[in-house]
Amino acid sequence: MTEVLPPTGSAGPAAGITSVARPLPDQIPENAPEHCPGVESDAAGHANACQGCPNQNHCQTAPKGPDPDLPIIRERMKCINSKILILSGKGGVGKSTFTSQLAWACASDHATQTAVLDIDVCGPSIPTILGLRNQYVHASSSGWTPAFVSDNLSCMSVEFLLPSSETAIIWRGPKKNGLIKQFLKDVDWTGGMDELTSDKCLIDYLLVDTPPGTTDEHLSIVGFLRESGIDGAVIITTPQEVSLQDVRKEISFCNKMHVPIIGVVENMAGFVCPACHTRSDIFYPSTGGAQALCDELGLTFLGSVPIDPRIARCCDVGESFVEEYPESPASEAYLSIIAKIKERVAQKGT
Ligand SMILES: Nc1ncnc2c1ncn2[C@@H]1O[C@H](COP(=O)(O)OP(=O)(O)OP(=O)(O)O)[C@@H](O)[C@H]1O
Ligand code: SF4
Ligand SMILES: [Mg+2]
Repeated sequence: MTEVLPPTGSAGPAAGITSVARPLPDQIPENAPEHCPGVESDAAGHANACQGCPNQNHCQTAPKGPDPDLPIIRERMKCINSKILILSGKGGVGKSTFTSQLAWACASDHATQTAVLDIDVCGPSIPTILGLRNQYVHASSSGWTPAFVSDNLSCMSVEFLLPSSETAIIWRGPKKNGLIKQFLKDVDWTGGMDELTSDKCLIDYLLVDTPPGTTDEHLSIVGFLRESGIDGAVIITTPQEVSLQDVRKEISFCNKMHVPIIGVVENMAGFVCPACHTRSDIFYPSTGGAQALCDELGLTFLGSVPIDPRIARCCDVGESFVEEYPESPASEAYLSIIAKIKERVAQKGT
């Protein structure tokens, strides 16, 4: 198992801020098997995964009960108005890209404070896409300080805890679970802004980028945020049936976990050749694409984003596509989808 140690002597921490001493969760047994239900769960010591675990005796007899960290998370989340998860069934369909475009578009209004939490523990790509490579986490008396893209756009990712972006994270569920809890408990999203007052949210949107599928990370984030409230999930898919099949599983997950679905975005929907302007459906929507799926399941279809090679280029260099190419059909699609998401989230709050 890779042990991630904090970057020591890391790039110039601001005055009064020290490097994190040891940013890993320390309450997760190192020797727990892969499907450990969590030492605080009611099933601890009794689940199938517990059979043969060296901690079984302890877990069977240890006191159970509500997670004492949940009120701490709830307190920390008080500064955030809307929490949105970005999900997909399949990998590589454009979740992180969409999360970043959404973040940039929200932050283009200077009065809107936006934060991105990257919980793709094994494949964090948000730091690259937001232009935040080689950043490290620093701690102050109020918690971990996120990295800032601009005054009103901040980000936290496991990548900021790694000694190098090439370091592989090979963690089992319990350890990922512990890190996500620590992010929710310890990150000070206000980053030194005005003191939080009970009736004022300082962060308008917290966008959570996730790995594909329904993994330990999904269970963790939904469980830890249950008390604080998740405004909803945006589900990303490509148009072809193999991706849509997995979206159905994601929808079922949201329904089981009582996560509202804001809507579905179809990404990589068609490509218009810049030379001859012929449109090709590279991922052919053989079963009607995301629109048909939404019609069938009564979900909101948020819109389609075409393939544009400049999107990938902007992601690689950490630039905002919607700002660089505002006139492109893909930017128009992003902005129309983002407006619908904001509208749906605002409606929920009324
Ligand atoms: N509409 C698009 N047109 C062209 N390229 C795109 C588009 N959307 C995403 N991409 C590119 O596709 C690749 C995969 O996108 P991204 O990393 O956002 O997917 P993901 O769903 O987050 O993947 P993972 O499941 O691995 O986290 C990236 O190189 C990205 O730049
Ligand atoms: S650490 Fe406890 S809860 Fe986790 S698998 Fe072992 S016995 Fe079960
Ligand atoms: Mg991703």
